[in-house]
Amino acid sequence: MPRTWPDPGSTRIPYWIYTDQDIFDLEMERIFCGSSWAYVGLSAELLEPGSFITTNIGDRPVIICRNGDGELRGFVNRCAHRGIKFCRHRSGQTKRFTCPYHQWTYDLNGDLKGVPFMRGVNGQGGMPEDFDLGANGLQQLKVIAHNGVLFASFDLNMTEFTTYLGESNRYYFERVCDGRELRLLGHSRQLIRGNWKLMFENIKDPYHASLLHVFLVTFGLFRADQQSQVKMDRTGGHGLLISRKGEQKATDATQDIENLREDFKLKDPRLLDPVKEFKDSATVVMQTLWPNLIVQQQSNTIAMRQVQPRDPSSFILAWTFFGYADDDEAMTIRRLRQANLMSASGLVSCDDSEVIKLAQDGINSDIDGYALFEMGGRDTEDTEHMVTETAIRAFYKHYRAVMDL
Ligand SMILES: [Fe+2]
Repeated sequence: MPRTWPDPGSTRIPYWIYTDQDIFDLEMERIFCGSSWAYVGLSAELLEPGSFITTNIGDRPVIICRNGDGELRGFVNRCAHRGIKFCRHRSGQTKRFTCPYHQWTYDLNGDLKGVPFMRGVNGQGGMPEDFDLGANGLQQLKVIAHNGVLFASFDLNMTEFTTYLGESNRYYFERVCDGRELRLLGHSRQLIRGNWKLMFENIKDPYHASLLHVFLVTFGLFRADQQSQVKMDRTGGHGLLISRKGEQKATDATQDIENLREDFKLKDPRLLDPVKEFKDSATVVMQTLWPNLIVQQQSNTIAMRQVQPRDPSSFILAWTFFGYADDDEAMTIRRLRQANLMSASGLVSCDDSEVIKLAQDGINSDIDGYALFEMGGRDTEDTEHMVTETAIRAFYKHYRAVMDL
């Protein structure tokens, strides 16, 4: 640093944004701890007063809980005394949080309620007379629930969530999270050895799925010639891939695919077995919400993928699979069976984690190089096909504005 972005604009992405620690630190400050709504969990994970979950917004550990009145609260999981990440449980139920080191105790609003030996022992030691418990609480977050999904912001004056989403992203968000009670089906977490932005590039580039993911192509779930749209919000930070499964015959859209085998059949076709359940004809909708969420609907698997950057070259991808409280048993089993395509060992998404690591391995060895994004042109418009990198260009247009690069 300072670094200069190469010309011409968003079709060239310099490799130093994937490797530089100063850039990473600035991303945490401006993107994750700035004016954004970060996904933190589902309401279904916080049903009772006193229930809490811990997660990360960027590399910052946070706690989201319901206080005694059932209201949502969020604060940084870092003791105001000496910086200890005091809560070590993924989830639980409690009346208070106590730091293990010197037992500073906080209530469910994040307010400091107790400091051992505050008045000293036998008249000796202790905190100064004017030490104010009220001024030493945990760093607060703003937390909201929208149709059963929890978002938090470090910006206490953050704009309304629906305004933040924009019109088309709100439509597709509410297509899946439509206000029905969500049922948590399970979590899975994986460490991916690549920069966090590579995950968004992966989802914002729909056509890779028709080449890399042999499973999808072979069994007819996703092809480059199916009717598709790529849409962005006005900032470019959020994006949508909307696609409809069509006829599965060999065409010129498949002749470039090295590994396509039309004669393959699944021994147990129930692994796929999709049923129509949403109000439109899309069979896959992948929504990327700035800065840390992928809302996935692939057939009947619905999941949140939360991106938690750790350092320039690794991130945690935390998956939350869910359905609806009114699903019948058969639908729940169908969702779980189809979930075999996803997460760390998924028949499809294991390919993504592998190529993301391979990308980072290549990038690390050439920090003066750059990636090329010219598929589908050089602009950042919405398209009615998927053979494009437009959503990646739009993402980096927004990224550069927020990062001032
Ligand atoms: Fe993929």
